[in-house]
Amino acid sequence: MLNRKMITLSISTIACLGACSSMQAMNETIEPGIAGYTHGSRSVERAPITLAELEELKLSLLMSDEDIKYLRMSYKVLEPNVEELVGVWYGFVGSNPHLLKYFSNAASEPDMEYLGRVRARFERWVLDTAQADYDQDWLDYQFEIGRRHHRIGKNKTDHANAIDHINFRHLSALTIPVTTTLKPFLERGDHTSEEVDKMHAAWVKSVLMQSILWSYPYVQDGDF
Ligand code: HEM
Repeated sequence: MLNRKMITLSISTIACLGACSSMQAMNETIEPGIAGYTHGSRSVERAPITLAELEELKLSLLMSDEDIKYLRMSYKVLEPNVEELVGVWYGFVGSNPHLLKYFSNAASEPDMEYLGRVRARFERWVLDTAQADYDQDWLDYQFEIGRRHHRIGKNKTDHANAIDHINFRHLSALTIPVTTTLKPFLERGDHTSEEVDKMHAAWVKSVLMQSILWSYPYVQDGDF
């Protein structure tokens, strides 16, 4: 398996295609000694829940070792298709004005540079999700993704000038389009339909679990 830094560099190289030469420089700003990811120049704070509490959340979601196995099985199927897959998701967001507005400025003009930069991180996230390597770095970064959807962190990584907050109600809702449009991509490998169904079920659990972790900044102190 590729390590995270290699994935970041290869994806940013593919995704930028000359449109964002600073992206690669941004992703290369991985400071040694800092725990977790540093997408952009910002270090990642420690997660407010422990790995043991993550295990409890997995139990609540009926996420078993078998699900982890099927997530990892999906890696090889998705890796060569990751750009196209994220393109489908971008198509969904782009065709829904109520979602596209979160990538747009106050005059409702989509910020193409912002869309492009986030896309590279989205592609990396697909592979991270398929790797299902739930260590402290991964857990810490989940809460960073949450902050990036909320006004406390949105736009900051890319210095974007878009609407500064994604309304909570859409976060978990997007689990459905994200995992529904994923299924035809899972069918592209040489797996049986039973294996495809199991990979798909594992992805539904993982995306729901992540959107729950991302909801942390939206929940009143002490209630998460
Ligand atoms: C299951 C639901 C969702 C998934 C899986 C998802 C996935 C992601 C990922 C992987 C990133 C990049 C994180 C990073 O910086 O490394 C991201 C950022 C972003 N997502 Fe989502 N997202 C979801 C819900 C939404 C919704 C409902 C919207 C509304 C349109 C949205 C808009 C954005 C925006 C604008 C960013 C960039 C935030 C920033 O300024 O850094 N996302 N999302």
